[in-house]
Amino acid sequence: MKLARLRGLLRQFAAPRNRVAPAACGTFFPDRESPQLCAAEAEIVDRFHSLFYERWRDGTADTVNLSWLGYNVRKCALDLWIYQELLVRTRPDVVVETGTLFGGSALYFASILDLLGHGSIVTVDIEERDGRPQHPRITYLTGSSADPQIVR
Ligand SMILES: C[S@@+](CC[C@H](N)C(=O)[O-])C[C@H]1O[C@@H](n2cnc3c(N)ncnc32)[C@H](O)[C@@H]1O
Repeated sequence: MKLARLRGLLRQFAAPRNRVAPAACGTFFPDRESPQLCAAEAEIVDRFHSLFYERWRDGTADTVNLSWLGYNVRKCALDLWIYQELLVRTRPDVVVETGTLFGGSALYFASILDLLGHGSIVTVDIEERDGRPQHPRITYLTGSSADPQIVR
């Protein structure tokens, strides 16, 4: 066996499984309480939303279909950035997601929690789907997020 291959195998077995060293997080958190938009600015936001969601709904553009590590996430990428800021700021023990769909957003949250080295995600959907990402921080529940048993 070649030495390089042997070294690779040793590294692989010596490394802890499913663990990522926590990232060195800083303390810079911008103030997100921006002043109220004037009518013209609010219209730009509305028009952006129309363009982003309606073009996707009517099939003219694939805007909402994002990909995270190869899994479908149905979001606006700008929201994902804000989720990341919230997770780093609040360091939650558990993230509860209502509406799993393909599991891409659950994997996104799990990836950020991996970087923080803390937390897990419980994600609920009324439908079960094959091919969702498997990750040690993700727990899938099937049922309605409004069902008391699921809440419990
Ligand atoms: C917009 S998709 C979720 C997108 C996903 N979080 C993502 O970012 O890729 C909405 C999901 O909510 C689920 N859903 C609808 N009603 C629900 C309920 N009462 N409880 C849980 N999930 C529900 C639907 O089955 C659907 O998969």
